[in-house]
Amino acid sequence: MALSDRHRFVCTECGETSSKWLGRCPSCDSWDSFQEVSALQSGAASSEPAPVVDLANIDPEGTGSKRIPSGWESLDAVLGGGIVPGSAVLLAGEPGVGKSTLMLQAAAHLSAAGGEVLYVSAEESAQQLRLRAQRLGSADASIQVAGESEIEPILATIERRKPAVVLIDSIQAVRSSDLNGLPGAMAQVRYCAERLVNTAKRQGTALFLIGHVTKEGSIAGPKSLEHLVDTVLTFDGERETQFRLLRAVKNRFGPTGEVALFEMRDRGLLPVSDPSRILLTRQHGKAPGSVVLPSLQGTRPLLVEIQALVNPSPLPTPRRMSVGLDSNRVALLTAVLERFAGLRLAERDLFLNVVGGLTLREPAADLAIAAAILSAGWEQAAPADALFFGEVGLLGEVRPVSQSGARLRAGAALGFRTALAPELEEGESAQEIRLHPIHSIAELAEALRGTK
Ligand code: TYD
Ligand code: MG
Repeated sequence: MALSDRHRFVCTECGETSSKWLGRCPSCDSWDSFQEVSALQSGAASSEPAPVVDLANIDPEGTGSKRIPSGWESLDAVLGGGIVPGSAVLLAGEPGVGKSTLMLQAAAHLSAAGGEVLYVSAEESAQQLRLRAQRLGSADASIQVAGESEIEPILATIERRKPAVVLIDSIQAVRSSDLNGLPGAMAQVRYCAERLVNTAKRQGTALFLIGHVTKEGSIAGPKSLEHLVDTVLTFDGERETQFRLLRAVKNRFGPTGEVALFEMRDRGLLPVSDPSRILLTRQHGKAPGSVVLPSLQGTRPLLVEIQALVNPSPLPTPRRMSVGLDSNRVALLTAVLERFAGLRLAERDLFLNVVGGLTLREPAADLAIAAAILSAGWEQAAPADALFFGEVGLLGEVRPVSQSGARLRAGAALGFRTALAPELEEGESAQEIRLHPIHSIAELAEALRGTK
C-alpha cells in the first residue's frame, strides 16, 4: 500500500494497511481493529513522474559518502566494511543478551571519531544509561542522549540535529499517538520503524534499531521489520555464558553470515580475536563424546567443540536435550545412527552441547554431531587430531558441504592432522591435512571403531 494515499487505515493488531476502513482485518481476522492514520509523513499524492537514471551512472556508495568506521573492527566486518550513511540496521536479540551494551560501546567509539551520535533511550532512563556508560568506562563520551519514547519528538530531534548515527533502544518501546495500542504492539512497532527509517534515509543518517526477540521467536517481532531495514544483525548467546555472537543475517551492503564473537566482561563486551582457542576445551581425544567441527560462521571457519553425553535413563521416555543445536536435526540424526550404525539409544538419555554457548545451524555440523553421539554411546574417545564435518541424509549418506578447503585449512592451522569428511568438491584441496573420506554413516562408525 502506497504511503502517499490520502487516507490510510492501519490494523492495530497486525499492521496491515488499507485505503479504506474495514470492519475485519483480511490479514489477521481481527474485528474493529482498523484505525485511520492522520497526516502522513510523505504528504499528499503527487502525479509527478519519478526521476530515472542510467544504472551505470549511479554512485554505488549512495550520495557519494564513505562508510563510517565504527571503531570496532569486528562490528565493521559484520556490517560489510563499516556503517553506510543513511542505512537502517536492525539489531535483534533476546532481552539481557547485551544489545544496549554493544550499541553504547559502539556509540562511544563513533562519537570519539567525530560525527554526532544520538542515543534515544526509550526503554531505560537517561540515568540508567549514564550508569551503564560509567561501568563501560565511556562516561565522558560525547554521546547525545534523548530519554524519549514518543515517535514525534524523536523524529523532530533527528531532523533538527541531523546526527551521523542514531540508535533507538528499543524499537518496541517507541510509540506513536497516531495509533491506539501499547508500545510493542505489532502495528506500533511497524509504524514507528517505518517513520524512523524514512526520516533517517531522507537526511543520510545511519539508523540502528534495537529489537527484542524471545526464545520462542518474536513478540511484535523484529521479523516484521526485516523488510524495512537494509541490514539485520542478530546478537545471541546463552545469558549464562560469557560469549556472544554477532551475525549479519541480511545485508544489502555486504555478505550475510559474517560473524563476530564477543566476550561479556564486567566492563562490557570485548571482541574475541582468536575464537577457536576459547571454544575448544581440549577434551577431545581424551573424553568420549567430544568432537571438533570446523563450522563456517559467515565467511570465517571457526573450530567449535560438540559434546555428547549418553546415560542410562531412569525415565519411561528417555530425555533428548540439546543446547545450541536444532533438536529436530538431532532427532533425525539419532534415528539415522540407530538404523545405520547400530547404536542403541532406547532406555538411554542423550544430552548434547556446543561449547561456548554458540548456536550451530549449518547442516555441515551433522557428521560431527553424529560422531559425538557415537563416541559417547560407545564410550570411546574420538581421535584427538581429527575434525568432523559433512551433511548427513536420512539414508545414512554423507554429502559434501561448502568451503571444505577453508574448513580444513583452519583446522590445520590449529594442529589438526586428519579430517573425517565427505570427498572434496572440485577446486578444493587438502594440503596440510589428511582427508579420510566418509561417504556414509556406516563408514563413520567403522572409522570410529577402528580407532579403538
Ligand atoms: P544489556 O546490554 O542491558 O542487554 P539488552 O539490552 O540486550 O537487554 O546487558 C544485559 C546484561 O549484560 C546484564 O545482565 C548485565 C550484563 N553486563 C555485563 O556483564 N557487563 C557489563 O559491562 C554490562 C554493561 C552488562
Ligand atoms: Mg537494553
